[in-house]
Amino acid sequence: MFGEMKVFSGSSHPTLAAGIAGHIGMQLGKSRITRFSNENIKVKIDENVRESDVFVIQTSAPPVSDNLVEMLIMIDALKFASAARITAVLPYYPYARSDKKDEARISITARLVADLLQTAGADRVLAMTLHAPQILGFFRIPADQLLATPVLVNHFRSSDLSNSVVVATDAGAGKIAGHFAKRLGLPMAIIDKRRVDDSESARSTALIGEVADKDCIIFDDEIATGGSIREAARILRGFGVRRVRVGATHAVFSGTALTRLKEAELDELVVTDTIPIPQAISSEIPNLKVLSTASMFGDAILRIHGGRSISEMMEA
Ligand code: R5P
Repeated sequence: MFGEMKVFSGSSHPTLAAGIAGHIGMQLGKSRITRFSNENIKVKIDENVRESDVFVIQTSAPPVSDNLVEMLIMIDALKFASAARITAVLPYYPYARSDKKDEARISITARLVADLLQTAGADRVLAMTLHAPQILGFFRIPADQLLATPVLVNHFRSSDLSNSVVVATDAGAGKIAGHFAKRLGLPMAIIDKRRVDDSESARSTALIGEVADKDCIIFDDEIATGGSIREAARILRGFGVRRVRVGATHAVFSGTALTRLKEAELDELVVTDTIPIPQAISSEIPNLKVLSTASMFGDAILRIHGGRSISEMMEA
């Protein structure tokens, strides 16, 4: 058993951090993050953390690289302030999509991030819905992955699912979509999505499964530029579906997302709050619902502190 539990937050997502601390029933730890005139980041921990069991919350949100460096500096500051154990809590893992060497002479940056976190002094990692679960294997320290599935399942269960089918946007998403479909007791379909070149655009041409006259729930790990969702909605409508709803964990909403999500004309778009969505964007996206993951993270932190199982949370 480690010492007193303390929860600190970087500056990427204060609302989620406050929600997590609120769920646990504690105040966030005191720290100050400032910048020198040369843009270097300074973190000052403003309370004693000696022998404490410390959790640091920082998600990957713009400015992504600055927030990553801020996290590293914060962990380093806590380490050298004699924290007994430091858990990096990463609601959306930085550089998660750079998880493989699919071109010559590129960095597997998700692995580099794992190296950096460990070098800074992280003793454990807690993340949510990794782009590829293999990212857990980049760590030589314990790493836990939460899935947002229970939060999304609860939401969709509260609606009429009698004529519904879960749809994966590509074969890669088939496994998590299958898990989601099973939890909802629904059948599943898979879209054949292929990236046509090195650009971020994707084209879909075919579909495996029955979707005609159905209410489709597209399930994906993240929405970045919105291309996959717009394309999935287009192909589903071509197959004569009745409604197109979407459930996704990470609302990255980068680049052209706003335009593409409007063009997709979704009946419902449900995401979680692992990434802050600026009001200017959320107010423009029709039928958007953002679900909180604060209680999941809060429960996971309590379980880690108490040495209890995390996987049990996924079974509930
Ligand atoms: C792809 O492998 C992922 O599961 C998502 O479908 C993808 O990241 C979404 O990106 P975008 O919104 O840019 O199509």
